[in-house]
Amino acid sequence: MKDHLTVVKHPLVQHKLTLMREKGTSTAVFRQLLREISQLLAYEVTYELDMTTRQIDTPLQTMDAPVLAGRKLALISILRAGNGLLDGMLELIPSARVGFVGLYRDEATLKPVQYYFKVPDYLDDRMVIVVDPMLATGNSSAAAVDLLKEAGAKNIRFLCLLAAPEGVARMKEAHPDVPIVTAALDERLNEKGYILPGLGDAGDRMYGTK
Ligand code: URA
Repeated sequence: MKDHLTVVKHPLVQHKLTLMREKGTSTAVFRQLLREISQLLAYEVTYELDMTTRQIDTPLQTMDAPVLAGRKLALISILRAGNGLLDGMLELIPSARVGFVGLYRDEATLKPVQYYFKVPDYLDDRMVIVVDPMLATGNSSAAAVDLLKEAGAKNIRFLCLLAAPEGVARMKEAHPDVPIVTAALDERLNEKGYILPGLGDAGDRMYGTK
């Protein structure tokens, strides 16, 4: 991808995002919209998957037809909100390999600390798509990408629903080689690290925990 940041302006993406932002949207509808929007975003973020051809027989003749090349791509969910994006993407890309990264923030140092890390083999040979709905400060996203690079990943993309300028800048500084795909670039973070205007706590909204 030539741009570090791609905002997907497709009307369906923008309409669904507006419904998700509204505070009155129920958990069930929020989850359904997230599933739908994640498939539209998956289309964009996988645009540069390598292709090859395979000879097939149609009912009329033989042809060299395009198919995906190489190893299956890896989807890496940053727990827990990443799982909401992951579910929809797996419907579109059912053979993708899946990994999980769990990070919490140490309240003394304010740095992300890893509590779970399980990823597919051969990361160096796959397109790796990290999914997390909210790119806020960018600290956990940058830390997750650090861990994936240590595990061998080279061809990484970051997919989110909403990005704050602060998070985009942090990612650009830490990982300029990792393109970001998002449905919107919002205004800023508030003092608690929430994205404004945002949609609130993505995990709470998708799992109904608050
Ligand atoms: N995480 C969220 O769920 N929401 C925000 O606005 C920022 C981080």
